Amino acid sequence: MIVLTDVFSGYGKLQIINGISMEAAASEITVLVGPNGSGKSTLLRTIAGLTTVYSGSITMDGAALVGVPAHEIAKLGLAYLPQTENIFTNLTVSENLRMAEYTLQGGQRQARLDGVKAKFPQLERYLGAKAGLLSGGERQMLAMAMSLVREPKVMLFDEPTGNLSPKIATQVLETIRSLAKELSITVVLVEQNARKALEIGSKAYLLANGKVVFAGGARELLEHKELGRLYLGLKAS
Ligand SMILES: Nc1ncnc2c1ncn2[C@@H]1O[C@H](COP(=O)(O)OP(=O)(O)OP(=O)(O)O)[C@@H](O)[C@H]1O
Ligand SMILES: [Mg+2]
Repeated sequence: MIVLTDVFSGYGKLQIINGISMEAAASEITVLVGPNGSGKSTLLRTIAGLTTVYSGSITMDGAALVGVPAHEIAKLGLAYLPQTENIFTNLTVSENLRMAEYTLQGGQRQARLDGVKAKFPQLERYLGAKAGLLSGGERQMLAMAMSLVREPKVMLFDEPTGNLSPKIATQVLETIRSLAKELSITVVLVEQNARKALEIGSKAYLLANGKVVFAGGARELLEHKELGRLYLGLKAS
């Protein structure tokens, strides 16, 4: 679904991604892990059209993405959920959802909103509350709900469980798993919480200094003693 071939990218003249090739298969969860500053967020932003790409190619379902503006990439069915600031805290939950649907045709709106509200029943009772008052987990659910209104084919998640308690983090990851499984959404998941993410992922990439140092099965990486210890703080179990 998403294929990167020898991609070099960065911010202006500052090159961060140094020749990355990767694939995220349709309806699967592909996990990206790596130490702080290794380029995980930059790689997601690169796919979403938010960095400078110097060379290489990126395709989604065969369509070339390099050079396509971010809003056009979004229209092609790609949703990018940034690490922070992914909701409007000064608006109510209901207003946030309406912001998400404003590009849709009138007829589609109510059906989409109803579908999304059914998927996130925990948001229902907060519809009139300011989104800034939501807990971390609820904010993450709202951010997901806002993306889902547009029925994306691909979702890029940047550390959706950052700052969440272990219990809520597990719930958020379970929700992401269900998006891939039930809605056939292709997921690229960046996580600090390597163990939990690798447990729900199919394939995994380990990044260091803007390069791929491991590509393979998520479980394989989870059980790789040396890489896990060196880069992910995983203890052999
Ligand atoms: N907007 C920006 N402009 C310039 N440099 C940036 C920008 N954002 C990130 N960088 C730099 O790019 C490098 C990679 O950062 P990135 O945020 O992609 O890492 P990361 O793997 O997501 O780290 P973390 O785990 O801390 O989120 C870092 O050296 C960072 O300082
Ligand atoms: Mg990051």
